[in-house]
Amino acid sequence: MKNNDVEKILISEEELLTRIKELGNQISKDYKGKQIFAIGILKGSVVFMADLIRNIKTDVAIDFMTVSSYGAGTESSGELNIKKDLDCDIEGKDVLIVEDIIDSGITLLRLKELLLKRKPASLKICTLLNKPERRVANINVDYIGFDIPNEFIIGYGLDYAEKYRELPFVGVLKRGIYE
Ligand code: IMP
Ligand code: MG
Repeated sequence: MKNNDVEKILISEEELLTRIKELGNQISKDYKGKQIFAIGILKGSVVFMADLIRNIKTDVAIDFMTVSSYGAGTESSGELNIKKDLDCDIEGKDVLIVEDIIDSGITLLRLKELLLKRKPASLKICTLLNKPERRVANINVDYIGFDIPNEFIIGYGLDYAEKYRELPFVGVLKRGIYE
C-alpha cells in the first residue's frame, strides 16, 4: 500500500486548501484588474495549479513548461534544458510562474532569466513549498505556501520516481524507499 511508504503527513489536505485560499486572495488583490498568465512547471505543479487558479478572482490564462537544469551545483552553473516550451508569446503579459517546490532554486533562476528576455510586463513566482535550507541560487520568491524542513517529500503533485503524485496531502517519504 502506497500509504505505508509515508513516514508522516507534513501538511494535511485541509491545511493545503486553507493556505491556497489565502494565496489566491493575496494574488487576486495584487493583480486586481489584470489578466494573469500563469505558467505551471510540469509535472509537479499540476495539482497545486488546479487548486490555486480556482481561488484567484481575476482573469487567469494558463500554460505549461517542462524544464530541468543540468550541471547544477553552484549558482553560476546549471544550464537550462527546455523539454516543453510555452504555446504562446508572453510579451507584455503579467506572468506568474507556478512551482511545486523550490529546492536549490537553480532551475527557477535560469527559467526567470530566460522568460525575462521575452519581455513580459511583469514576472513573479509562486511556489507551494520552499526548502530554505537548500537554497543555492539567490532568487526572490513572491508567494510561498509553506516553508518546509530539508526532508524528501511526496504527494499533492510531488513524486518519487513518478509515484505518489496523487496523494491528497504532502508527506515525508520513508527513508527505506529511496536510500
Ligand atoms: P531546484 O530548485 O532547481 O533544486 O529543483 C527543484 C525541483 O526538484 C522541484 O521542482 C522538484 O521537481 C524537485 N524536488 C526538490 N525537492 C523535492 C522533494 O522533496 N520531493 C520531490 N521533488 C523534489
Ligand atoms: Mg518541479
